Amino acid sequence: MTEEQQVSEPAGANVQADATKESGQRVESMQKMKVDVGGGGEQIAADGKSDVLFEVEDLNCYYGDFRAVRDVNMTVPMNRITAFIGPSGCGKSTLLRWFNRMNDLVPVAHITGSIRYHGVDLNDPKVDAVEVRRRIGMVFQKPNPFPKSIKENIMFGARISGYSGNLDELVEKSLRRAAIWDEVKDKLDQPGTALSGGQQQRLCIARAIAVEPDVILMDEPCSALDPVATLKIEELMFELRDEFTILIVTHNMQQAARASDETVFMTMGEDRAGYIVEKGPTSEIFTNPKHQLTEDYVSGRFG
Ligand SMILES: Nc1ncnc2c1ncn2[C@@H]1O[C@H](COP(=O)(O)OP(=O)(O)OP(=O)(O)O)[C@@H](O)[C@H]1O
Ligand SMILES: [Mg+2]
Repeated sequence: MTEEQQVSEPAGANVQADATKESGQRVESMQKMKVDVGGGGEQIAADGKSDVLFEVEDLNCYYGDFRAVRDVNMTVPMNRITAFIGPSGCGKSTLLRWFNRMNDLVPVAHITGSIRYHGVDLNDPKVDAVEVRRRIGMVFQKPNPFPKSIKENIMFGARISGYSGNLDELVEKSLRRAAIWDEVKDKLDQPGTALSGGQQQRLCIARAIAVEPDVILMDEPCSALDPVATLKIEELMFELRDEFTILIVTHNMQQAARASDETVFMTMGEDRAGYIVEKGPTSEIFTNPKHQLTEDYVSGRFG
């Protein structure tokens, strides 16, 4: 990709245009329809037939001249939880953020190679980054509810994407799916920021799923939570897996072992470029890894 092709528009830059698109259909099933991702009519053929959702080919991720991640070739299966583990600085967040063009917001960030989603190159300039981020949502390490009511947190994204259904129903449905409805149903008008950390994180998950994404990216979503709240999020991930594909970065080995189907182990070389050592079914990575580096990491001898 050339420098010119790097997209630097901020999140929401196309919001206005987006909101005016005929988008009532967007919140319907995305497994079976073709969705216009904006720009030059590039289409995402979400036929749901293939088990492969993302195909990453020869991906190198740079910040300026610094190569933070190198030579990634992998696929991500649909309706599965894929965990990314590895020592601090090996590029897990960098890689994750390229799955929904969150790095567009970092002017020096650029890539070579490609990430295809339902066969479409996500970083093709014709593809609308805002639509990409609606279909591929993100939950961050630190819960970040908007400084608005619980209800508004859910309705905000739906309004922007032109949701035409009943907003109160959407609020209830999203909060129920995120397993937080019972805790907040009597205080929907109170600020989201007044909830506990674990509740805020579930609110953020509810907000992410309210726009009916296809994928949820999670970057250490439980690192600020206690073990009980962490387990709640993990249970929630398992429930959501039927409807969404989840990619999660975690430093918590038990969490990766408990809560994922596939695990990707990354480390970095002397040039500090992160790379994938091994990827496979989680049970194999944790009980019978192919590489010594993986074995050392998962058994706590390294990192
Ligand atoms: N915005 C940025 N500008 C320049 N370099 C960056 C930027 N973000 C990350 N890096 C560099 O890219 C490399 C990978 O960072 P990244 O945050 O992806 O690692 P990580 O595996 O997520 O680490 P951690 O486990 O500590 O979160 C690091 O060397 C980091 O310093
Ligand atoms: Mg990180």
